[in-house]
Amino acid sequence: MRQVMVAGNWKMNGSRDSVRQLIDGIKTGVSGVKAEVVVCPSYVFIPGVADAIAGSGIQLGAQNMCDQDAGAFTGEVSGAMLKDFGVNYVIVGHSERRSLYGETDGVTAVKYTAALRHGLKPIFCIGETLEERESGITESVIARQLDAILEAEGVASLANAVLAYEPVWAIGTGKTATPAQAQEIHAFIRNKIAGLDVGIAVGLRILYGGSMNPGNAAELIAQPDIDGGLIGGASLKADDFLTICKAGG
Ligand code: PGA
Repeated sequence: MRQVMVAGNWKMNGSRDSVRQLIDGIKTGVSGVKAEVVVCPSYVFIPGVADAIAGSGIQLGAQNMCDQDAGAFTGEVSGAMLKDFGVNYVIVGHSERRSLYGETDGVTAVKYTAALRHGLKPIFCIGETLEERESGITESVIARQLDAILEAEGVASLANAVLAYEPVWAIGTGKTATPAQAQEIHAFIRNKIAGLDVGIAVGLRILYGGSMNPGNAAELIAQPDIDGGLIGGASLKADDFLTICKAGG
């Protein structure tokens, strides 16, 4: 059985006060939740959140990282630094990184490699744009995005990673893929991995992301190949986030 995982991607939001309130709210309601709960704050909030969640069972993730280990890389944050602050997960290949910051498949692959090198578990994001969906190339786009990391690190590396299917047209738009649409792609992803290694495919968690909210989470997570969610907007309200965390049972 794959443990459901719900990860909050706070993106570039919050202040010291609001982050403290948010994490206090999540902590208050998280006991008894069966899902693995992960929060991914901005870098500057990581030390404070790390202290606040100590002993709560909540896991810490970062939203990005540098592919290099140390040195003259102004403005960057290394995997070692993240590890030093108790970070376990790192989002790699988010569509906002790809579209706004020019991260190519090649860049996502070197970051994936760097995350693994530092003992961080990548939450590797894949997904098609609306244009790609309407052109009927969704599966080939996702296969190409996956091949970047499979060629770099091999299928066995997925034992230490999580995938997130995030249709770009559903991110932050309020438009969610229907459970059937999402399940179809999740099954495609799992089958592709199973073609390389059945054991890895069976154990691999594939999260759905894209306007998951308290109203639609249960039905999405009930799909056989959807193992949780990567939550943007709805992760900024403790009550909404906790409802999603409980949606998997
Ligand atoms: P959203 O974002 O839930 O606001 O659509 C999801 C994500 O970008 O990870």
